[in-house]
Amino acid sequence: MLPRPLRGVLPILFLTREALAQSNAETVRSSFAYILYGERTPLRGNTAPSLTPLGGQQLYTQGSVFRARYLSNGSLSEDDSRVTTASPVIGLEENAIDNSQLSIYSSTDEYVFGSALAFMQGLYPPTPHAFAVDGEDLSMLANGTTVEYPLDGYQYPNVQTPSVLDPNSVWLEGHTSCADYWSSARDFDDEANTVRTYNSSFDFYQKT
Ligand SMILES: *[C@@H]1O[C@H](CO)[C@@H](O)[C@H](O)[C@H]1NC(C)=O
Ligand SMILES: *[C@@H]1O[C@H](CO)[C@@H](O)[C@H](O)[C@H]1NC(C)=O
Ligand SMILES: *[C@@H]1O[C@H](CO)[C@@H](O)[C@H](O)[C@H]1NC(C)=O
Repeated sequence: MLPRPLRGVLPILFLTREALAQSNAETVRSSFAYILYGERTPLRGNTAPSLTPLGGQQLYTQGSVFRARYLSNGSLSEDDSRVTTASPVIGLEENAIDNSQLSIYSSTDEYVFGSALAFMQGLYPPTPHAFAVDGEDLSMLANGTTVEYPLDGYQYPNVQTPSVLDPNSVWLEGHTSCADYWSSARDFDDEANTVRTYNSSFDFYQKT
């Protein structure tokens, strides 16, 4: 269910911290996922690098499936049960995001960071009373008034963008210091394969 990889793929990482044990047939304590970004504007051309609405939907859908898998209480919808099984991570907040339980890494590229946000919107959709610290609902003020986050309880994930000086950045942006990557990107237009494909598909793309 990963979006189609594109040239110069950049990942987002999502990791849940180990939680408390619980006796069950299967015990899931944490999960690690390496996720590609959604559809972006073409590498070649005049458009700025950007996540497209389709790309946002791709990652939102993917986050929703992860939600069904890791944050469900065992009852999956018919759609979700076609693509995954319920494997709830024990101790993980189900509805209110608790950023101390998650590690989310992204490169600084707009379309990758946007993909991370869209994914997280699916994982933790807007939820009223969604302000949890150690499982406690804190959305009520001392005077008894309940205050929600904007947009019906939109939740804010802590998406980290490690700098190139951080050793962890290699997993996300190893290509930024890779001479072969950049020469390949630069010479792409002139490679024999590119020219052949361009010539052989030119007529097709001229059709309206
Ligand atoms: C499980 O989740 C579903 C959907 O959110 C909910 O309707 C149901 O009440 C939950 N069951 C339990 C036992 O928490
Ligand atoms: C409680 O405090 C909030 C924030 O200051 C205020 O908006 C709200 O009107 C107060 N509620 C009551 C019942 O006084
Ligand atoms: C591609 O088309 C151009 C112009 O028609 C031609 O000069 C060139 O030889 C073609 N290249 C290949 C690899 O087919």
